[in-house]
Amino acid sequence: MKFRIETQSDYTEAYKSSIEQPEQFWEEIASHYSWRKKWTKALEWNFTDPDIKWFRDGQLNITENCLDRHLATRGSKTALIWEPNDPKEKSLRFTYNELHAQVCKMANVLKNLGVKKGDRVCIYLPMIPELSFAVLACARIGAVHSVVFAGFSAHSVADRINDSQCSFVITSDGLNRGAKQIPVKAVVDEALESCSSVMKVLVVNRLNWPVQMHDGIDVWYHEEIEKVNADCPAETMDSEDMLFILYTSGSTGKPKGVVHTCGGYMVYAGYSFANVFQYNENEIYWCTADIGWVTGHTYILYGPLLQGATSLMFEGVPTFPDPGRLWQVIDKHAVNIFYTAPTAIRSLMASGVDHVLAYSLHSLRVLGSVGEPINEEAWHWYHTHVGKGKCPVVDTWWQTETGGIMISALAGISELKPAHAGLPLPGIQPCLVDAEGNEISGNDVEGYLCVKFPWPSMIRTTYGDHERCRINYFATYKNMYFTGDGARRESNGMYRIIGRVDDVINVSGHRFGTAEIENAINQNKKVVESAVVGYPHDIKGQGIYAYVILSDMNLATNQTRDEIIESVVAEIGRIAKPDKIQFVSGLPKTRSGKIMRRILRKVAEGEIGSLGDTTTLLDPLVVDEIIKGRL
Ligand code: WTA
Repeated sequence: MKFRIETQSDYTEAYKSSIEQPEQFWEEIASHYSWRKKWTKALEWNFTDPDIKWFRDGQLNITENCLDRHLATRGSKTALIWEPNDPKEKSLRFTYNELHAQVCKMANVLKNLGVKKGDRVCIYLPMIPELSFAVLACARIGAVHSVVFAGFSAHSVADRINDSQCSFVITSDGLNRGAKQIPVKAVVDEALESCSSVMKVLVVNRLNWPVQMHDGIDVWYHEEIEKVNADCPAETMDSEDMLFILYTSGSTGKPKGVVHTCGGYMVYAGYSFANVFQYNENEIYWCTADIGWVTGHTYILYGPLLQGATSLMFEGVPTFPDPGRLWQVIDKHAVNIFYTAPTAIRSLMASGVDHVLAYSLHSLRVLGSVGEPINEEAWHWYHTHVGKGKCPVVDTWWQTETGGIMISALAGISELKPAHAGLPLPGIQPCLVDAEGNEISGNDVEGYLCVKFPWPSMIRTTYGDHERCRINYFATYKNMYFTGDGARRESNGMYRIIGRVDDVINVSGHRFGTAEIENAINQNKKVVESAVVGYPHDIKGQGIYAYVILSDMNLATNQTRDEIIESVVAEIGRIAKPDKIQFVSGLPKTRSGKIMRRILRKVAEGEIGSLGDTTTLLDPLVVDEIIKGRL
């Protein structure tokens, strides 16, 4: 079995053998990495508990695979390019030798602070090089990183720190976001008022901002780094040791900590990166995601570094100083492979094609999309104006829980169809099931998207609550991993992802549970009850529509609206701000008290003619009022 698929017939052959002899298939892929000790068993699994073990007894360190093993041949090759927020600031480049040294130093700093194998480290940093060093430094010493996107509120940070009992935090004084500078350390300070597990906070100086440093807890990175050298042997990790936790929203309760482990994640991250993007030595690859999301974990850091690629990391935003920024960066660094989200494409589309046409973009070879379904209009704009009609667009479907890309075209190899993710990667066995959990066979069918066989980078558990993992992903349909998405399988076997079928909304590619947003809205004392649904939004994919019952209808003012938004910003963060808030006197409920979200969704979508039967509602009249007041 070849690690790298190069032709359509390679794909067919690889796929076939991955189904017929999955263990052998993955053992061959895994043998392309360096292991300190070989595994004794490729796979042990059941989806009932669930209990999934890949490469049992194998030992490794992922950073040795990302860094050390490249030094002999690629030591002076650029591993990481860092492009700052402000185009006037200098970009930075780190060769594999330099990145190795930076990671070892940061690892030694962490060790000096008392971080040990197995400790959880919360990383709350903007997109600066130290974020990459920090992630890899944790992996080097066997600490478990939990990266929290730097846009989350103090409340969210505290929840995440407490859930996994992090003993260390790595943060910065502040961050740049377009023309704005935003405090970061202050958010951590506020969060730590309710976190007792944290012993030390390492602070990176990004903005030269005055911050409050607490004696005995807060230390500056630039001072600590002076005390260490660049010699830090990698810790030996078991294949199934935890590598990281990443929090993501589900349909119920608080965000859950998705757990990924060392061996399987490594194998799949490198394999999927190499095959989907067809990376060639000396190409420049750029993924615009934030490392606070899974896309940044797997496809800015681990995947590209495992393959010895040059990966670009961008601090800024697509619209600063103007909506041509992404294209300017592509030309500046001669980027060959560009991976972004539909929401970014749609927002740049809206600001006019002239910004794109001002740049040559001739270096581009492959384009990618991730995070939400890409609509055909955005696909064509991306393909025509960015890719100049010559770059394949790979629409990559996957999830935080899957660890890596599951369904996607392989660039330049697979057939492309706009708005279709395409075929599964070899080794991945998706299927569609009906409401009863029966597998739907054949093509031209639609159903709930599941995966019926394990793959190396799949979720192992949700931190501290295995039962939640079982219920969320493995209990809905027997012997299947349930994705939460609905999909269509076309006549040629290609998958088209329709979207979430649970109470998760995908706003600009970011996942939120409706319950999570409702909880945040309900923190406002004027609110009696709320119901949140998604609705189609031109730029964000889905927008957040909140129906809110107030204790007194006289309070239904713009000021209350602003206060509710403030509650959400404080509880979750600015990224979860409702787009529309409609005050209502009641919600459509069944006689047993269950909110009929289907009706609320239809009203938010403007599909008032197809509400279905509302006569069984507790109070059918409330629907008329909601329709009348629709925003
Ligand atoms: C959605 C992001 C359609 C889907 C990597 C999934 C997509 C959720 C695509 C996971 C795509 C992701 N086409 N939908 N190419 N990629 N999704 O965990 O609903 O942030 O379940 O992982 O995003 O979001 P997450």
